[in-house]
Amino acid sequence: MTQAVNVTITGGAGQIGYALAFRIAHGDVFGPEVPVNLHLLEIPAGVRAAEGVAMELDDSAFPLLNSVHVHDNARSAFDGTNMVAFVGARPRSKGMERADLLEANGGIFGPQGTALGEHAAPDVRALVIGNPANTNAAILAAHAPDIPAGRITAMTRLDHNRAVAMLAKKTGAPAAAITRMSIWGNHSPTQYPDLFHALIDGVPATEKIDDHEWVAQEFVPRVAQRGTEIIQARGASSAASAASATIDHLHDWVHGTPKGDWTSVAMPSDGSYGVPEGLMCSFPMRSINGEWEIVQGLEISDFSQGYIDISVEELKQELKIVEELGFTPGL
Ligand code: NAD
Ligand code: LMR
Repeated sequence: MTQAVNVTITGGAGQIGYALAFRIAHGDVFGPEVPVNLHLLEIPAGVRAAEGVAMELDDSAFPLLNSVHVHDNARSAFDGTNMVAFVGARPRSKGMERADLLEANGGIFGPQGTALGEHAAPDVRALVIGNPANTNAAILAAHAPDIPAGRITAMTRLDHNRAVAMLAKKTGAPAAAITRMSIWGNHSPTQYPDLFHALIDGVPATEKIDDHEWVAQEFVPRVAQRGTEIIQARGASSAASAASATIDHLHDWVHGTPKGDWTSVAMPSDGSYGVPEGLMCSFPMRSINGEWEIVQGLEISDFSQGYIDISVEELKQELKIVEELGFTPGL
């Protein structure tokens, strides 16, 4: 039998955690051969609910679920962990400014980064979902300097999937026919969903969509604002689709992106496409031998560059705020 992997979910009793834990326990990330020890980290007020989630996981009798543990401190939750989904975060409450939100989350992701760096397994892979995801991931990475840069990522896979779904709906093609979609920048309304390199059944999407008006007025803003649209409809932010995107990201990281395709991931920039080195920015990304690699050599039009510049500027501003608050030593 293959050795079990340790997977930690922070915010394990929340909406996303509730959907995610069952998919991981079912084997949707590592596959049908790899047993999983699941660790749910919660704040003290969430521990009882996390214990309830653990009971339900037990009751599901998943063949691959080796054990479930509930933690109220990051050190034990990250001890020997191979993979962490950072879902728990401080949500924006009424009257809260962006700087307040960044400060509150800096207070979470700073100490969690230190605990991750000190206790995780050497091969740990981390994905930040909790918002503001890119900058939370930057804070985490700054506090875990011994973890290689590409091992701490932030999620733009949900935006990627939304862009694929919207293009599929527009053209009548199945989602599976669409490849090479790209999300650039921040997981925020400034993100840039880029269909100019996308293919539909191997044919450039631009050959089927020559309606530039639709791209600029409908596709880009609708994908970028989809999170808000869901909140308005559901009265709560996306959860099952966010958990599903988390699975997609982690699965592709472990198993590789399909041949000829790529996905979108926020990772520290290596300077590609003029994005400042170290900035936790989303790029088109391939997973090769368990590592993310930025897709190189794409031609970026002035139209696309204008959007990318705005989102990169927002990321720089967010980082400047957390730097001033003292949350990113070493960046
Ligand atoms: P939720 O409020 O239902 O659950 C969050 C859970 O995290 C709660 O149970 C809470 O007790 C816990 N928590 C808070 N602080 C914690 C800490 N320091 N350590 C451990 N646990 C902690 O929220 P949700 O709907 O599951 O969403 C979680 C986050 O994901 C939010 O920040 C949301 O904005 C974000 N989100 C991101 C994306 C994306 O695409 N990146 C998509 C949807 C939601
Ligand atoms: C989403 O994209 O659905 C979320 O990030 C929205 C949010 O603000 O939680």
